[in-house]
Amino acid sequence: MKIQNRRYTGSKYKLMPWIKELILQNCRVHDSLFDVFGGTGVVTAELLCITKENIINDFLFSNETIYRAFFGNGKYDPVKLEEYVKEYNSLDRKKLKENYVSENYGDRYFKNEDAKLIGHIREDIQLSLTAGKINKREYNILLSSLLYSLDRCANTVGHYEAYIKGKEIRSEFVYELIEPIETSNKITIYRSDANELVKRISADIAFIDPPYNSRQYSRFYHVLETITKWEKPKLAGTAMKPPEENMSDYCRKSAPEVFGELIDSLSVRYIIVTYNNTYDSKSTSSRNKITLEQIKETLERKGKTKVFETGYHRFNAGKTDTTDHKEMVFITEVDA
Ligand SMILES: C[S@@+](CC[C@H](N)C(=O)[O-])C[C@H]1O[C@@H](n2cnc3c(N)ncnc32)[C@H](O)[C@@H]1O
Repeated sequence: MKIQNRRYTGSKYKLMPWIKELILQNCRVHDSLFDVFGGTGVVTAELLCITKENIINDFLFSNETIYRAFFGNGKYDPVKLEEYVKEYNSLDRKKLKENYVSENYGDRYFKNEDAKLIGHIREDIQLSLTAGKINKREYNILLSSLLYSLDRCANTVGHYEAYIKGKEIRSEFVYELIEPIETSNKITIYRSDANELVKRISADIAFIDPPYNSRQYSRFYHVLETITKWEKPKLAGTAMKPPEENMSDYCRKSAPEVFGELIDSLSVRYIIVTYNNTYDSKSTSSRNKITLEQIKETLERKGKTKVFETGYHRFNAGKTDTTDHKEMVFITEVDA
C-alpha cells in the first residue's frame, strides 16, 4: 500500500500535480519545504522530487507513526516483515481470544472476528518491539501497515465519527504491508502544535493546509489514534471515543486569530495556503471557520499574494443539483 492509499478528509493527493506546477512557476527557491499540517503526508511525498529537505508535522499520533514508517531513515529487513505478514494472515481469527479491540470495536467498526485479529496483531507488534525482535523503524512499518489494512475494512463512511448500523459487517480484514518511500532528501518529522512549531523552524516554503470547519481530526480518526497509542483507555458513547485530546483551535471560532498568529510567526520565503469552499454549507459543523477574505488579508500582511483556483461541478448523488466546488491555492512571496 502506498502513502495515498487511505481515506482521509482533506487529502490533497489529487491536487498535487497542479500544486507542484504552481510551486515550480511561482517559487524561485524550493529546496526546503515545511509541511505544517501534514495529514496523510502526500504533500511532502509528492514534492520530494522538487525539494531537498523536508519538515513534516501533524499533531496526531497515528500520522506521526505513518510518517516515520514511510519517510524514516532507520534500516528495516523486508524479509522479516514479510514473515510477519504471512504469520498474521495465517492465524485463525475465530480461535483468538477476545481483546481490547474486539471488546470495544467488535461488531461495531469491524466484524468481531476481524477485531480479535486486529487486537492480537497490535499486541504482538508491541511485544515484538519490547522483546527486541524488531527495531523502531520496523515497528512503525508494521503498525502503519495495520492502520492502513484496518482502514480498508472499517464499517464506516471513511472516518470514525460513527460506524454504519443496521447492515451486516463482512469479515474482510487482510494484513498488508505499506511500501516505504526511498529518498535521499533529509526529512524531519514532528508531532507538535503547528502554532508552537512554526516559531522554531525556517524553510524556503511553508505549506499550510489546516482544517477549515468544526470537525476535529482527533475525533474523526480516534480509532487510529487509540490503536496507535495503545494505552487502552476507557472508551465512551456509541462511537466508542477516548477522552478528548488534540482539539484544534482551527476548528473553533478563534480560527481566524490562530491562523493570523501562525502566518505572522512564519520565517519562510514563500507561504502556500490551500483552501476549498466545499463546506460553504448549510450544516454548521461543516461551515468554514475562516473566510476567503480573511485568508487573503492575513497573507497580504506578509507579502504579495496570488490566488489560483480550480473548479469543477460536483454531482450530488441522487439529486439533480450541482455544487460549485472550488479548490484554491494562495501563494505569498514574503517581503524581504
Ligand atoms: C486538511 S488536513 C491536512 C491534509 C494534508 N495536506 C493531506 O493532503 O493529507 C489538516 C491536518 O491538520 C492537523 N491539525 C489540526 N490542527 C492542528 C494543530 N493545531 N497542530 C498540528 N496539526 C494540526 C490535523 O490532524 C489534520 O491532519
